[in-house]
Parts: sequence; structure tokens; C-alpha cells
Amino acid sequence: MTELKGLILSGGKGTRLRPITHTSAKQLVPVANRPVLFYGIQAMADAGIEEIGIIIAPETGDEIRAAAGDGERFGVRITYILQDEPAGLAHAVLTAEPFLRDSPFVMYLGDNLLQGGIGDLVHAFNEQRPDALILLTPVPDPENYGVAELRDGAVVRLVEKPPAPRTDLALVGVYMFTAAIHGAARAIKPSARGELEITDAIQRLVDDGLRVDPHVVRGWWKDTGRLEDMLAANRLVLDTIDTRIEGDLVDSQVDGRVIVERGARLERSTVRGPAIIGAGARLIDAYVGPYTAIGEECVVSNAEVEHSILLTGSEVRDLGDGRMESSLLGRNVRIGRDGRQPRAYRFLVGDNSEIGIL
Ligand code: TTP
Repeated sequence: MTELKGLILSGGKGTRLRPITHTSAKQLVPVANRPVLFYGIQAMADAGIEEIGIIIAPETGDEIRAAAGDGERFGVRITYILQDEPAGLAHAVLTAEPFLRDSPFVMYLGDNLLQGGIGDLVHAFNEQRPDALILLTPVPDPENYGVAELRDGAVVRLVEKPPAPRTDLALVGVYMFTAAIHGAARAIKPSARGELEITDAIQRLVDDGLRVDPHVVRGWWKDTGRLEDMLAANRLVLDTIDTRIEGDLVDSQVDGRVIVERGARLERSTVRGPAIIGAGARLIDAYVGPYTAIGEECVVSNAEVEHSILLTGSEVRDLGDGRMESSLLGRNVRIGRDGRQPRAYRFLVGDNSEIGIL
């Protein structure tokens, strides 16, 4: 068999995570201080995949390239594939055809997280040799997902966001394909939203009499496309960390599982885990509560932060009695109290931002 390749989709529009995605790729938003994208690359590397193609968009491609590089640090070789426009997941597959050629491949949505990796899946694919294998997970609200219907252990129908779902098995953003998918992707037409849908291409395989196997995942799966999902993914990953203190604690304490990276400094502060404090960050008279990831070089001073993600270089100062929670701050954001006008709120906020005064 030709060697199994990897295809990670890291283009797209990212409209649901604006304004973060106005200036940065959503696949690089960190979960427990590590870009979401890196979890997918790592999962492929762990499954023994050596050749990975990453689909990039013109706007964010350079940033993705700079972050993931040639793949050496993951022990893989990365090829970047430019998709001119976000015309759908099946369009991304067609764009990658010159890279994939006739190899079977794992396709992984670059903003998805899958607990436990893809080793099981690759094993099932190699053993059973279907024409495609799709990952499924039971969800409480299948009407919001692509849903699979099964008969005699095989997939017979895929429906995108059905109003009356016949099963609760949602499609997870990881798939395994043989080269048969290229013909199927070429045969379909754009959907009502103007995209070449991967669900339509897979349905095409089924309709052509090819075998599409289901694989129900055991662990959790998260699509990090929205703020709540991002925070949930952060919680799930932070739940798995072990304590590691490499920074300096001065009159400070940490409770529970906490990582304090090298060069971080805590002064008169408390961190209640699970939480991670990035390299070079400073906490001064601060409280950091559970499920918080403080990025590199951030400052939290005279303030309380909980259940939040702060990207590199952000600062939160002098919040008084209010605790910041369930928040996502982009890079170099400054939040603080203006001492001269204690009763006023003062904002400098970009398009599509969201601020809750609770
Ligand atoms: P989506 O989250 O479905 O789409 P999107 O990135 O355009 O986001 P939004 O709905 O918020 O506007 O995409 C899933 C993944 O696939 C994500 O990592 C982006 C990537 N993608 C591509 O690489 N090419 C594409 O044409 C599309 C639609 C998505």
C-alpha cells in the first residue's frame, strides 16, 4: 500500500471567532498555551504519519507557516498548500490532490481537538480497508451537526444539520480517505452556502457503491470554532496536565495542578489549578482561578482572572472587585482601570468585539 499521508485543513474564514480571526488564524489560538493546530500535527506524528500537507488561506498562511515550520520539531515533513478561497472542505481536498496523489490519507480539521489521537482509527482503516472511514460521536444536539445514518455496520446516509435527526451520531472533524474521494469531490456541486461539502462527497462514495465505515470515538472531541468551544477545549486539556513549576514564586501559592513556565514570576499571588502560566508572564497581587491559560509575557496585576484564555503579551490590571471570567483576550490586549475616572468605562475595541459588563 502507498504510504498514508496527512492533510490538515487550516484555511477557512473563521467568522465565528471574530475579532480574533481578523488578525490571526483561529488554528493558532492556543489551548493550554499550545496552538490548536499543533495537537492535530502531533496526533498524526504519533500515528506514524510522516508526510503532512497543510491547507492554508492567503490571509493567514504565512502565520501558520511561521508557527509550524517544516515540521521537523514534530518529526514530520510539512508541505503547505494554498487554497485561494475557502470554497469548502471537499474543495480543499481537490486543491491538495497534487500533494496527495493516489495515497490514502487522514484529513483533520485544523481547529479540531480529538482526545486519544488517531492511532485507533489508522489501525481500523489498515485492518478493514474501507474506501473511506468517518469518525462519529454521539451528541445531545445532532441537529447542529452533520449526522450519519448506519445500516448493517456501514454508513448509508449523511445529512447536514437535519431538523429531525434519525441518529445522534455527529461527524467528527477527522476522516480517512482513499484516492476515491477525489473523483467524488469532482462529481459534486456546490451546496446552498456555495461550498463543496465533504459530506456530499462522502455521500457520493456511498451512492457509487463504495464502502464507508463508521468509527465511533471513545474520548471527547471538540471543534474550537466558537468562543465557548475554545474555553471548553482549554478546560479539557488543562484537566490532563501535571504540576510543573519552573518560574519564580515570591510570597505566592499554587493549589492543584498548575504549570508555571520558565521566566514567569508570581508575586503575592494565588493560582488555583488546573491552570497554566506562560513563560515570562507576571502575576502581581493577582488571583488566577481554575481553567485559565495565561499566555507568554502576559501581566495580571491587582486583578482576578478565571476560566479564561489570554494570548501573548496581554495585560489585565486593577479590576477592583470584579473578576474577569470566561473571556478570550487576543494578543497585546490591555484591560485596566483608568484611575482618573473611576466611574467610567473606557474602550478602544476593534470590529466584532464582544464585551460583557455583568
Ligand atoms: P469551518 O470551521 O467549518 O469553517 P471556517 O474556518 O470558514 O469558519 P467559520 O464557520 O467560523 O467562518 O472549517 C473547518 C476547518 O477547515 C477550519 O480549520 C478551516 C478549514 N477550512 C479550509 O481549510 N478550507 C475551507 O474551504 C473551509 C470551509 C474550511
